Amino acid sequence: MEKITVRKARLAETIGQHVCLQGWIRTRRDSKGGFSFLEMNDGSSLANIQVIADQELPNYADEVKRLSAGCSVTVRGEIKQSGGKGQATELLASEVLVHGWADPESYPLQKKRHSFEKLREWAHLRPRTNSFGAVMRTRNQICRSIHDFFQEQEFLYVHTPIITTSDCEGAGEMFRVTTLDLDQVSRQAGQVDYACDFFDRPAFLTVSGQLEAEIFACSLGKAYTFGPTFRAENSNTSRHLAEFWMVEPEMAFCDLSGNMDLAEAFLKRVTGDVLDRCQEDMRFFMERIDNEVIDRLRRIVESDFLRISYTEAIDYLERSGEKFEFPVAWGADLQAEHERYLTEKKFQAPVIVYDYPRTIKPFYMKLSDDEKTVRAMDILVPGVGEIIGGSQREDRLDVVTARMQEQDLLPEDYWWYLDLRRYGTVPHSGFGLGLERLVQFVTGMTNIRDVIPFPRTPGNADF
Ligand code: 4AD
Ligand code: MG
Repeated sequence: MEKITVRKARLAETIGQHVCLQGWIRTRRDSKGGFSFLEMNDGSSLANIQVIADQELPNYADEVKRLSAGCSVTVRGEIKQSGGKGQATELLASEVLVHGWADPESYPLQKKRHSFEKLREWAHLRPRTNSFGAVMRTRNQICRSIHDFFQEQEFLYVHTPIITTSDCEGAGEMFRVTTLDLDQVSRQAGQVDYACDFFDRPAFLTVSGQLEAEIFACSLGKAYTFGPTFRAENSNTSRHLAEFWMVEPEMAFCDLSGNMDLAEAFLKRVTGDVLDRCQEDMRFFMERIDNEVIDRLRRIVESDFLRISYTEAIDYLERSGEKFEFPVAWGADLQAEHERYLTEKKFQAPVIVYDYPRTIKPFYMKLSDDEKTVRAMDILVPGVGEIIGGSQREDRLDVVTARMQEQDLLPEDYWWYLDLRRYGTVPHSGFGLGLERLVQFVTGMTNIRDVIPFPRTPGNADF
């Protein structure tokens, strides 16, 4: 007897087949007619399959009638056409095998709906809920589309290191990696002696794979890295994690406008794929999480992204008449409230802001001819704010060296990065997309902690 998923078993084409299904019970309802309805789910779809278990089953009285939410079962039987609403099929059981019981007195996921905050305390059980299952299936589709998009465009997938000795973003928000015994740190003249440490020098968890991705773009043309990144910023917000996944494409012979074109095509492709392939889960998000989420995704696919310079953005903000917590002034970084005003109120659409002041951006961004701005771009989307950050890279040896010095970085620490400018330098560009912010945007989930299996935030690494 073939084992199939609940998703498949729900298709009318399976009617008449004898199959085996394995999963977990969601509910049991006993009918007066001497049989029970079991709602069963195996994670392959949001919807359950209804199992009809008759009293003729040998373990009906002893076992079937004791089944409750969370019990694991194997059910064999025939797929029948269903008379029930919202389902084409049901499974008439010839055998119900119980693998594991779940005491209804103590199993937390009973009928009652729990808040997302509460579910975070049960990171080991929340994948059994409808909402988290839908988020994880959507996240999976997004990752698949990310690879499809770049592979189809002949980008090379490179694995950049997780342990690094350079601070890409220059923000100093890095987690340290050490084997030194912190209780007995070896010090010389009051300084930690890193010669005794594993890597003979200070090492950290990476904040971005960009610098290494540049190496591959400047050798092999187009590359992307996709992996975990780490930031020790102490921000307890609904959009920040200490550990998150970032996709970073990097392209040789590409300027800022080509970079913006790629980023826009990329977001359109991923959201389009989700609309096509995650219809059931998207309907759930629309009904339960955010009733505008599908319309918003459709608009992403259909309309061009607006592109405005930082200077224009400041102008719009100054003339907005809004009371912002952080003052708006040319030269200051855009805060989340400013970004959200632009994308949610002013334009109600994705906005690409480009050409930011040099003083607020990292050393690697290409200096514009005005020498006041760099060729940076951020993409802002409703509900989330900044989802992508990128730039054209500074490809001139003298300028990038000066920019490092300006930001108190030692050029000798980045000798290999400078070599890329010394030998066969090329205009090149790239960006970084925060995977979890994209999952938030696509699903409408308001807290970033609810779109990653095991969120790491200040004071929280429990699971
Ligand atoms: O804007 P960021 O800091 O850019 C970079 O790291 C560049 N090196 C990327 C590149 O050009 N290759 O980060 C990129 C994106 C942000 O737009 C945001 O979506 C996400 O990463 N991000 C975070 N997501 C969750 N939690 C955090 N703490 C994040 N910090 C950044
Ligand atoms: Mg950024």
